[in-house]
Amino acid sequence: MSAASAPAREPAAEAPPAIGPLRPGDVVVVLGAGNMGAGIGQAAAQAGFRVRLRDLTEKDLERGRAAITKTLDGAVQRGKSSPAKKAEVLSRITFTTDLKEALAGARLVIEAVFEEEKVKRPLFTDVVAQVSADCLVATNTSSLSVSKLFEDFPNPERFAGLHFFYPAAINKLVEVIGGRSTSARTLEVLDRFSYALRKIPIRVEDRAGFCVNRFFVPFLNESVRLLEEGVANLSTIEQTANELLGTGMGPFQLMNVTGVTIAYHSMGSLHAAFGEFYAPAKLLETQHKNAARWDTAAGGDFQPEKKEAVRHRLLGAVLGIATRLVEEGVATPEDTDRGATTGLRWAKGPFALLNEVGPAKALEHVEAVHARWGDAFPVSKELTRLGKEGAPLWPLAQVRVRKEGPLGWVLLDRPEVMNALNTRLLEELHEKVVQTASDPEVRVLLLAGSSNVFAAGADIAEMASKTVNEGREFTMLGQRVTREIETLAKPVIAVVEGYALGGGLELALSCDFILAAEGTVMGLPEVSLGIHPGFGGTQRMVRLVGRARTKMMVESGLRIKAEEAERWGLVARRFPPEHLHEEARSLAKLIASQAPIAVRLAREVTDLGSDTDLPTALRLEAESASYTFSTEDQKEGMRAFQERRPPKFRGR
Ligand code: COA
Repeated sequence: MSAASAPAREPAAEAPPAIGPLRPGDVVVVLGAGNMGAGIGQAAAQAGFRVRLRDLTEKDLERGRAAITKTLDGAVQRGKSSPAKKAEVLSRITFTTDLKEALAGARLVIEAVFEEEKVKRPLFTDVVAQVSADCLVATNTSSLSVSKLFEDFPNPERFAGLHFFYPAAINKLVEVIGGRSTSARTLEVLDRFSYALRKIPIRVEDRAGFCVNRFFVPFLNESVRLLEEGVANLSTIEQTANELLGTGMGPFQLMNVTGVTIAYHSMGSLHAAFGEFYAPAKLLETQHKNAARWDTAAGGDFQPEKKEAVRHRLLGAVLGIATRLVEEGVATPEDTDRGATTGLRWAKGPFALLNEVGPAKALEHVEAVHARWGDAFPVSKELTRLGKEGAPLWPLAQVRVRKEGPLGWVLLDRPEVMNALNTRLLEELHEKVVQTASDPEVRVLLLAGSSNVFAAGADIAEMASKTVNEGREFTMLGQRVTREIETLAKPVIAVVEGYALGGGLELALSCDFILAAEGTVMGLPEVSLGIHPGFGGTQRMVRLVGRARTKMMVESGLRIKAEEAERWGLVARRFPPEHLHEEARSLAKLIASQAPIAVRLAREVTDLGSDTDLPTALRLEAESASYTFSTEDQKEGMRAFQERRPPKFRGR
């Protein structure tokens, strides 16, 4: 449609205000000083934020203060904190009943009040009227729809869900939930806020139960059903579940701690959203109505002959739901597992369990539950396919690739262990780096962490039990990956923040150059573990910063900050953390806009030449530079300069 025939437009809506990063020192308001609110406030204060904890009465506030003090005292007693640190954390928290006072200057408001829409909505109305348009507003709901809670409020892009897990001061999991109108920027800022609180955020869609409660609460419910139906006694269900999930507390004991009523109500919300399979078990309802706890002491003797039936049902329920929620796009399989291991402390997440039994067997477990509930318990198409095809595994990634036009981001993705490099990750990294580089559209690769950490080294948990031969194999694998990166036909930029230690720094050293966030801690601390660098660290470091600095680093295990590393030439450039990715992106685009053959040869000559004597290196450079005159790109580049237009390089 031409401009002339276009209908008259509404006056352009005002652009939403830019949402800046959240930094320590910023004001974070937590509404509700109950268990969750107090825990969230404590975590934020520990991360350096100025926290205002607001509740309705002094008594409520006192309870919140007591809960925080108790947790901090516990940390001091366990030697994990000090009285001075405790005082510092408490000094960052203001307790108030005055909403206006709480909200003054707020950058983020987290609501953690009673789980009812009619309590939350009016509170948000008051909040919205008193905060600036760029103040982020989050609800810590576990069962209400984020989109619905924030319906009709102005600047809807800044509202989201932040679902913390109990106990919120300690539990590392946070579900970050975007509502219908939440902007990508809001989610990104909330991810980073969560990392600043030393949490592991997982992105989930706004569906009932989000990710973790969607399979966890039905797991509790199914345990109750097994008891109600007499499949096994309570002790057998409890013990079988513990063995299956590697937990110390079975479903019944857990309900006693976290509340039978909470489990009952959570099942109620899931039931309303997803139908009959999710209906609370009758016995759960009875316990809830009688406000009764499970009598775990009278659970009966373990019945070994019933174990398999219990395992079969629990696996069927958990795997069936997990595979479905992934199919619905609620969360990725990796984040679903992360939710279980980080938030619930299961030894394995649903997809790791699935892979342990194999897709074919998993499908059998799930189909058995489906046979009983029909459409109320649909079977994932992907599980059916993998199961029927006899696939060995449901693929799970530890390295993610994101393409942005000519840029290929390769992201290390094990945030729960700071991207510790294990065999699986290194093999996958090798494969994905090669794959990404062979994509003709990709001109430049960027190697980064998926969170606020690049990599804290080779995986110590995996290395601990290695023999000499296994140690050699692992080292050679690390060398294969780093050498592959170094000799790729396309430039690779290391984009590092948080930590680049040991194998992490060695990976970064094999890239063309390192861009780092201010404050990044870098070092080769292997000698503190009784080993020394083996992924090329000693050799690449010496070439970059000389013998004295390399030996000082390698022999002492000293950790330095990006600021010093930049002075040494170990880091090419450093930026404030919130600008790192944007700066890396624009530099990578600049490289991607240059003549590809010239870029490739220039990096080859630089690398090869720096490892040989000067006359040979100069000869190499002359031959290589001469060759560029044979390319179409050389003609195009020079013609474009003369014609005063940008060149169009074609890599020929
Ligand atoms: N291998 C395996 N796991 C690692 C790891 C590594 N290299 N580095 C960190 N992790 C894990 C921790 O065990 C912890 O897991 P958990 O929550 O299950 O206990 C998680 O990552 C977070 O680390 P944590 O130590 O709790 O965080 P922190 O902020 O207190 O300290 C570091 C961060 C990086 C300073 C610290 O983890 C460290 O020194 N790591 C080892 C560094 C190293 O020696 N690397 C060289 C290996 S060759």
